[in-house]
Amino acid sequence: MFRRLNREVWVVTAADTDRRGGLLATYVSQASLDPAAPMVLIGIAANHFTRDLIDASQGFAVHLLCPDQTDVALNFAIGSGRDRDKLANLSVRRGATGAPLLRECLAWMECRVGGAYDAGDRIYYWADVTDGQALSEDAPLCEHELMAAASEEQLQALRANLAHDIQVQRPMIEAWRRRAGS
Ligand SMILES: Cc1cc2nc3c(=O)[nH]c(=O)nc-3n(C[C@H](O)[C@H](O)[C@H](O)COP(=O)(O)O)c2cc1C
Repeated sequence: MFRRLNREVWVVTAADTDRRGGLLATYVSQASLDPAAPMVLIGIAANHFTRDLIDASQGFAVHLLCPDQTDVALNFAIGSGRDRDKLANLSVRRGATGAPLLRECLAWMECRVGGAYDAGDRIYYWADVTDGQALSEDAPLCEHELMAAASEEQLQALRANLAHDIQVQRPMIEAWRRRAGS
């Protein structure tokens, strides 16, 4: 079922005093229907560098990408911000939470964390939207088009990333199940 969905992809960025980074995510949801108090819910893997940055700053930014920004998406999806500055070749400015805001994207929102739930392999953050802007009326880049544009080498790197994540995250979710008593 999930493979048949063609989710939009989001770049989630965050920074603390001397570190910055981001990742590509599909787990970004609208979490409030009140236009006067917009909220989002994001799910970030506990072992990802971006999680450390969100915990440290209690803020993050989410961006939708233009359909031709497949390289930007893959830059954030492959490898860890612990090993390289994923924002090095991108034009960015700092938001109020310190989160890097991509100058080139389809739309962005900056968010301040209000609460979080640790579900073992994922941390779910509820956050208030404090700022945002839509730069284009185009439809956003989605997962199927992203995968179709990736080279064989990039697909291999994504598969390796995923295999590593599953291996690292299995004991995390098992520990959470034991704690939760299920
Ligand atoms: C289509 C796609 C969707 C993804 N969705 C998420 C997600 O919702 N949450 C997450 O933590 N990682 C997600 N990832 C994986 C991260 O983008 C990837 O592991 C990233 O390199 C982590 O970077 P970091 O360690 O620098 O934070 C997704 C990857 C792809 C290709």
